[in-house]
Amino acid sequence: MPTDKIRLAIIGCGGMARAHLNAYIYLKNQGIDIFDFVAMCDVDENRARDFASTAAQSQNDIQPNVYSDVSEMLDKESLNAADICGPHFLHHSLAILCFEAGLDVIVEKPLAVTIRAGHKMIQSTKEHNRILATAEQVRRWVGPRTVEWMINKEKMVGQPRMFFRQGIGGSTDPENRLRDEPMVWRRNKLTSGGNGIIDGGVHYVDLLIYFFGEPDEIYARVDNLSQFQFPDAEKNYVAQTVEDTALATITFENGVMGQWVSTSAAPGRGMGYNSYHGSLGSIYSGGGYPQEPELQLWDGSKRQKEDLQRAYLESLSPEEKERLFPHDITEGVALEVYDFLDAARNHRRPELDGVDGLKAQAVCNAIYESGWCGESVKFEDVYQDRVSGYQEEINEKWQI
Ligand SMILES: NC(=O)c1ccc[n+]([C@@H]2O[C@H](COP(=O)([O-])OP(=O)(O)OC[C@H]3O[C@@H](n4cnc5c(N)ncnc54)[C@H](O)[C@@H]3O)[C@@H](O)[C@H]2O)c1
Repeated sequence: MPTDKIRLAIIGCGGMARAHLNAYIYLKNQGIDIFDFVAMCDVDENRARDFASTAAQSQNDIQPNVYSDVSEMLDKESLNAADICGPHFLHHSLAILCFEAGLDVIVEKPLAVTIRAGHKMIQSTKEHNRILATAEQVRRWVGPRTVEWMINKEKMVGQPRMFFRQGIGGSTDPENRLRDEPMVWRRNKLTSGGNGIIDGGVHYVDLLIYFFGEPDEIYARVDNLSQFQFPDAEKNYVAQTVEDTALATITFENGVMGQWVSTSAAPGRGMGYNSYHGSLGSIYSGGGYPQEPELQLWDGSKRQKEDLQRAYLESLSPEEKERLFPHDITEGVALEVYDFLDAARNHRRPELDGVDGLKAQAVCNAIYESGWCGESVKFEDVYQDRVSGYQEEINEKWQI
């Protein structure tokens, strides 16, 4: 076993980074003493300072150093690893700086702002022989792990045939196009790459790939129906340039086909569920992610979540349990950061590397590409960056 501790920096100390910080601290509180917080970096130095003082409480008041510039941090510090939680348009350039400085990196999803940016990151890991992990917590929860076991190991629904994912909701005041919240990077295509499909949506795609394997073809209609405008830094209203609605048909190489509807522009009665269907029956889970799977077979027989999850956990060998839920951790973000730290210490592949992250992202990009050109697109063409019309202005803007 390696004895050296990972010397870690967090880059981008915003909303999701807080969940990462808490997860690292949770590991320390569990006695998993495999890293030190060495530096915190954010262009907003106050955020980095706040992270540093919280982190210090978990390591005998040893304060991580605070930076507002990544290059300066990399010059001055001796680090092994960085956790990047910045806006999407910076993922690739921040990660490549870290690889060039010899660090292993975990990057929040989606891997990159475009497919080309993602390939540049993967190329850089190869050149510098570093680890690139995609932060993906959803599949690590007990619910989605149970669904994967039900479909692929126990074959409870028989031959997989279809999936449906619906996430339908809307604003309470759709007539008011001038919104009060600030125009943040998420609402600008150039800085985010897209909205609900590539942002939160990439989690669903990771699950679909986990359950069904390689995607094949995608057809989608994508729109910005609400036409909301938000005040920019100068208090001028500017239009969001990302979608609020997408309806996609996705097929997989194993023959599975399914539909994904994602809209925040459908006021009235909302709807949210995931369902997976096979030749013998279905798995249904209400709400956002498939955390509460219920089984129903063709003859009407049912099994509930508690029974299924217990059976799944009991089925795991001690080795599988240690691989999937090491140290009995069941919280997704704690599992993802532990996986990254352990991979960095042992120079092994994390469960989700850059290629895995980019493949999940490529389905989201394929939805945008299909919406942009009005035709179905092959997953492989988008993943290989042969179809990139929607993404071109982003690539041009950041010279990717
Ligand atoms: N896994 C999840 O469930 C989940 C949830 C939310 C967000 N995310 C992901 O986390 C990432 C960050 O999203 P967020 O919601 O935390 O955004 P955020 O805007 O709250 O945080 C981004 C932070 O990056 C900082 N930053 C900007 N430029 C920087 C630079 N050059 N150097 C250092 N720091 C810089 C900002 O000041 C800000 O503090 C995104 O990739 C997002 O998709 C994941």
